[in-house]
Amino acid sequence: MKKIILSILFVCVPALALMAERADYRIIPLPKTVQTDSTQVFTLQAGMGIAYDAGNPEISRNAQFLRLWVEELTGIKLQLTPDDKKAAIRLTIGFPTDKKAKKAKKGQKGVELTEQQQEAYTISIGKDGIVVAARKPVGLFRAAQTLRKTLPVKVVSSVEFPYAQIADEPRFEYRGAMLDCARHFFSMQTLKQYVDVMALHGCNQLHWHLTEDQGWRFEVKALPELAKKGSVREQTVIGHNTGVYDGQRYGGYYTQEQCRELVNYAAERYINIIPEIDLPGHMMGALHVFPNLGCTGGPYPVWPHWGVSHEVLCPGNPETLTFLKTVVGELCDVFPSKYIHIGGDECPKERWKTCPKCQAKAKELGLKNDGKRSVENQLQTWVNHEMEAFLSERGRDMIGWDEVLEGGLTEKGIVMSWRGINGGIEAAKQHHRVIMTPTTFCYIDYYQLKDHNRQPEAIGGYLPLSKVYSFEPLIPDQLSEDEQRYILGPQVNLWTEYIAYPQHVFYMLLPRLDAISEVQWCRSDQKNLDDFKTRLPRMLQLYDRLGLTYCRAME
Ligand code: ACM
Ligand code: ZN
Repeated sequence: MKKIILSILFVCVPALALMAERADYRIIPLPKTVQTDSTQVFTLQAGMGIAYDAGNPEISRNAQFLRLWVEELTGIKLQLTPDDKKAAIRLTIGFPTDKKAKKAKKGQKGVELTEQQQEAYTISIGKDGIVVAARKPVGLFRAAQTLRKTLPVKVVSSVEFPYAQIADEPRFEYRGAMLDCARHFFSMQTLKQYVDVMALHGCNQLHWHLTEDQGWRFEVKALPELAKKGSVREQTVIGHNTGVYDGQRYGGYYTQEQCRELVNYAAERYINIIPEIDLPGHMMGALHVFPNLGCTGGPYPVWPHWGVSHEVLCPGNPETLTFLKTVVGELCDVFPSKYIHIGGDECPKERWKTCPKCQAKAKELGLKNDGKRSVENQLQTWVNHEMEAFLSERGRDMIGWDEVLEGGLTEKGIVMSWRGINGGIEAAKQHHRVIMTPTTFCYIDYYQLKDHNRQPEAIGGYLPLSKVYSFEPLIPDQLSEDEQRYILGPQVNLWTEYIAYPQHVFYMLLPRLDAISEVQWCRSDQKNLDDFKTRLPRMLQLYDRLGLTYCRAME
């Protein structure tokens, strides 16, 4: 009897598994327009080809990604057939509408494409197959990710694609996610997985937080002791500064070679890495190695607990700026990003108030309390100016947390608004570029469920999926259309005081990244929470397939 049942299973299970399944265009983030005719389908099956320009390495890579993803999810093996004009999937460059517009404008000066237009793509599905068109290889990559997400997460004999016209481009040019690798250190493998998950969601900026009171994680070749010693704390506090410590040394840093490797890995997935050296506060990692750079001279431990240290860099000491320029100079050598983040948040000023070197510097600069801006806040602005000029010489733009507004903003500084939206509003009104990442909508280190017993320990707060989804970064009731143009886009932040393992990283990220991806990508009139929730289960299947943890409950 057992034998008979087993042989029935052996015959039937593969046959049952190998069924045709339909592609589903209701993905996350939702494309701008999708018109379908579900009465007719194009059937994709093993052995069919993907055509593309094999002379272009970027496009070839995107074709390979697509082939890999189709096989990974469905078991269907496609072939790379660059020259086959009849291939089932054809990746092409150029929009017919662009050619017409160019002809009509002959002789006129061309209009520059926005970042978003450069990422645009279309997918046409009909009896001759699937034709993808984009202006640039990045658009082909976005389209390949879209096709990936339409696939069944199941080994099948074939996939039936209903006839469709899809046209898509992102809403915001800046679509970010931050990862704090200073409170806890994450491996290259985890970082690559983070990049992959970001790319799956159409994000394009990874903000990499590299230095902290609890550890310095970026190798500086001119200062070899900095990462070697500054990355190691003697132990770590258990829970929320309980006073009980684990007694375990903890450390880790990224060599410049590893940083370059990650930059290249991310670039192949159209993600730029913005490194952050948080200055002049959050500097205990560096002060431990160079106590002469602090106002008191130390000694300073690499912090074993959480919070904000009031020991910070001493701007009155000329060696401090030399140190910062050495560090940020090497940072620019390693990271090609046009944006470089210099932190600037949470820099207590009590040491500066009583430090003779700091006060002498303030006097030399002629800084006076003007009722709105303290001398010490202006001293921080002076540091920011120095760093902005240094970056500008290297063709880079400086980003700072919204505290950089307090002593008066530098000319071209970009403000990352985190203490709510007000810093962003003020900066946009002053015609400064802004990245919106307010705690209230974007801090995914907060709890995601009301009941704390149903989730791992978090920093506090409450940021459910629905709240992230509800964010409108342009603040239309307070910013005019002209002012809204200064909002580059939104970002989620993942601080890691209470997150030590990759499984926990992805649990905090997913599915809140799904929610922010619709904020980043979709027009506000496209967004609908109930509809979004009906599209999520398929993404969760994909996470299961990719071995990613995520929060199953949704509030
Ligand atoms: C921050 O959360 N301290 C920027
Ligand atoms: Zn000082």
